[in-house]
Amino acid sequence: MGFRGDLTENTPLEVFPDMDRQAKYKSQTQNDFYGDKKADRLPVPGTAIRGTALEINNVFSEKPTFSNLAFRTGKIDEDSDSWVSKIPDEAQIDMSLMRLGKERYDIHCAICHGTYGNGNGVMKEFLGVAPRNLSDPELTNYLEPAGRIPDGKIFHTISMGAGNMLGLKDKLSPKERWAIVLYVRTLQSYVSEAQSSAKN
Ligand code: HEC
Repeated sequence: MGFRGDLTENTPLEVFPDMDRQAKYKSQTQNDFYGDKKADRLPVPGTAIRGTALEINNVFSEKPTFSNLAFRTGKIDEDSDSWVSKIPDEAQIDMSLMRLGKERYDIHCAICHGTYGNGNGVMKEFLGVAPRNLSDPELTNYLEPAGRIPDGKIFHTISMGAGNMLGLKDKLSPKERWAIVLYVRTLQSYVSEAQSSAKN
């Protein structure tokens, strides 16, 4: 069998295959198992996207534009913890942003914070700590509304998480995160108004 480092012209004896051969398909090859015979498969419908902040068409365009600091981070300047008070113009507030916010909130937040944002999501009893009440001024643990908690701070919480809450910036683009901020603000005014009209 010789020693390690010896040279030989003989066919090597394969004691351990060392994964030289694997039962796998390479990309762009044929796989007869599927009707369309493609080895590459599309993600299962409904797969949650792990997007990036970069848009390929933009990156490879002649004049790529990159979003500003406030839009990417919710901060006024790089090093400090000072937050923009409002959703930056770059997010383009309109009905489609609102719809996007509702859709993403229902997917990523409602399970803990509840459909109305009052912290009563189905996960509440499984977490060691109650999810923050984002919308209901009459319940405990209420997140203060616009003007007091800056929008940039909420954006930052969605991105990086807080305490027991996970950060979601690998799953939501900056635009989607601002859309959720817009939707949370809407839940706040919706719940307050519903309560004051119930009292009248
Ligand atoms: C796994 C459950 C869970 C999910 C999902 C979740 N949160 Fe939270 N969130 C929490 C908990 C728990 C806290 C309280 C953190 C603490 O005090 O330790 C919290 C706190 C917060 C706060 C307040 C942070 C602070 O500084 O007081 C905001 C704002 C918030 N969440 C928004 C959101 C939004 C918007 C989403 C969806 C993008 C979301 N959360 C998804 C559990 C969750």
